[in-house]
Amino acid sequence: MAPILRIEGLNAGYGRLRVLFDISFSVDEREILAIVGPNGSGKSTLLKSIFGLTNIYSGKVIFNGEDITGIKPHIIARKGLVYLPQVENVFSKLTVRENLLMAGYKLPKQELKQKIESVLELLPVLRKYMDNKAFQLSGGERQMLALAMALMGEPKLIMLDEPSTGLAPKISNYIFERIKKLRDMGITVLIVEQNAMKALKMADRALLLAAGKKIFEGECNALLSRKDLVKLYLGLEVSPSKAAEASA
Ligand SMILES: Nc1ncnc2c1ncn2[C@@H]1O[C@H](COP(=O)(O)OP(=O)(O)OP(=O)(O)O)[C@@H](O)[C@H]1O
Ligand SMILES: [Mg+2]
Repeated sequence: MAPILRIEGLNAGYGRLRVLFDISFSVDEREILAIVGPNGSGKSTLLKSIFGLTNIYSGKVIFNGEDITGIKPHIIARKGLVYLPQVENVFSKLTVRENLLMAGYKLPKQELKQKIESVLELLPVLRKYMDNKAFQLSGGERQMLALAMALMGEPKLIMLDEPSTGLAPKISNYIFERIKKLRDMGITVLIVEQNAMKALKMADRALLLAAGKKIFEGECNALLSRKDLVKLYLGLEVSPSKAAEASA
């Protein structure tokens, strides 16, 4: 299968500050790729670079066979690649319903209703808050709304930056379950996650970054079996049983 996303020799950063160094990797369709690494290693910068929000000095971003290097975010989104930033990802003064309508503005009216319905089937928690303003939602509910909004655009690939950070374990587990469903719906997922163990248990493959460089790319189990890497970069002590659990 041809990869849906391919990054080739990417060097990127902010103005003169270079953050990413020669990053290459690829993601297959319907795959969940977890991007892990220490704070400040460039995980968010990588997602932003793919979405056209940083300065790219050299290298390529190929999405669905098309070179999208450095093109404008709204054009990338229209091609079916969406990005959920780490913070500020909903319109807080609008209601849940209005947020969803905004996110689906390009759909014809009849389809819009159906699309909202199908998104609510995936995230039923939002149903009771349809007429509440987004700022009245809890952190977890707001993340679900952000995810719902991203889905309104019918993406082929979705990039999530720490969707569960700051949430209670039960809610973050719920969000993780929903993310796995996205894969079943045929959507490819790139997820940056602070809780590396959790991400490696959910994802198919992993990309480990440190100081802006790729340290590892491969199956999550293969990374978990590299005890040197997971201890040094992720602070994890993996016991054999944990690794087996992760592969289950
Ligand atoms: N808008 C920006 N302008 C300038 N430098 C930035 C900007 N955003 C991030 N950086 C710098 O780029 C480097 C990588 O940051 P980035 O946010 O990509 O790391 P991260 O791996 O996502 O970290 P965290 O796990 O804390 O979210 C850091 O040194 C950071 O200070
Ligand atoms: Mg980050």
